[in-house]
Amino acid sequence: MKNTKSIIPVAALAVAALFTSCSDNSAPVGEPKVVEIHASDNMKFDVTEIQVKPGQPVKVTLKNIGTMPKESMGHNFVVLTTGVDMTEFLTAAATQARNAYVPPQFASKVLAHTKLLGPGESDTVTFTAPKTPGKYDFLCSFPGHAPAGMKGFLIVN
Ligand code: CO
Repeated sequence: MKNTKSIIPVAALAVAALFTSCSDNSAPVGEPKVVEIHASDNMKFDVTEIQVKPGQPVKVTLKNIGTMPKESMGHNFVVLTTGVDMTEFLTAAATQARNAYVPPQFASKVLAHTKLLGPGESDTVTFTAPKTPGKYDFLCSFPGHAPAGMKGFLIVN
């Protein structure tokens, strides 16, 4: 009967956790944040800030509403972890056309990404927001686009 003592505190903790989450007025963590972003030939996203809760599911649909060919004006949506040097990331990405400009050597630094989209195409990616509050970069990793302003922040708070 050695385990009997340890069960009660664990149950008490579980109940405490339940009350803690119920007392929070904000949306439950389990409710997904759904975002639609348009990407256009002017190298801009029409959404540059996404607000989420720590650990919240996030569903992002990127639509390329431009008309220029994918080879010269492709767009994607890439979310990075914190602590990534964006210049280093983009330098690596620029040589990775064969990997749709998502460099494999940065795989552990990429929280989520869509496919590279040509005109009229769309793609949806679902991921879990980081548990650690902070500002996480998102960007289009097609060469030249993020420096031109095709980027924003996933704000976990
Ligand atoms: Co782009």
